Amino acid sequence: MALRKILTAEDPALHKVCHKVTRFDEKLHRLLEDMKETVVDANGVGLAAPQIGIMRRVVVIDTGEEIVELINPEVIETSGQQDGMEGCLSVPGEYWLVKRPMIAKARAQDRNGDWFELEGEGLIARCICHECDHLDGHIYTEKAYHKLTDEELEEIISRQEEE
Ligand code: NI
Repeated sequence: MALRKILTAEDPALHKVCHKVTRFDEKLHRLLEDMKETVVDANGVGLAAPQIGIMRRVVVIDTGEEIVELINPEVIETSGQQDGMEGCLSVPGEYWLVKRPMIAKARAQDRNGDWFELEGEGLIARCICHECDHLDGHIYTEKAYHKLTDEELEEIISRQEEE
């Protein structure tokens, strides 16, 4: 396993559509292990392969219980709405407000090519949508409507600490 370098938004890799994965081999498994190690090390909730310069439709999401591997994921169902703060490992130090569905369901393949579904609410729904967007070359700030100032950020953090 190895930590991979996370690219930032200026990199062209983050603005291209990724290719479908067709081979569920050792190379894919190594990529998944590296992505999991990298997202944990960076304290992220999710990571998409283009963020480390690999133009394949591969995502890892930390649900809090486990890190789920999603190959060729597609958002197949959404409902409700949430409006809140979002960040991205490729846009370090910034947090923007983005409207997202409250619940999102994705269909994806596992590392062996078997299809499964992942449904998430709140932060996980946000993450499913955010990471799938990366695979189509989109960064969340395109959908965001307000960049949080340092003061607003401090206020949100202190409010969370009180809760
Ligand atoms: Ni991101």
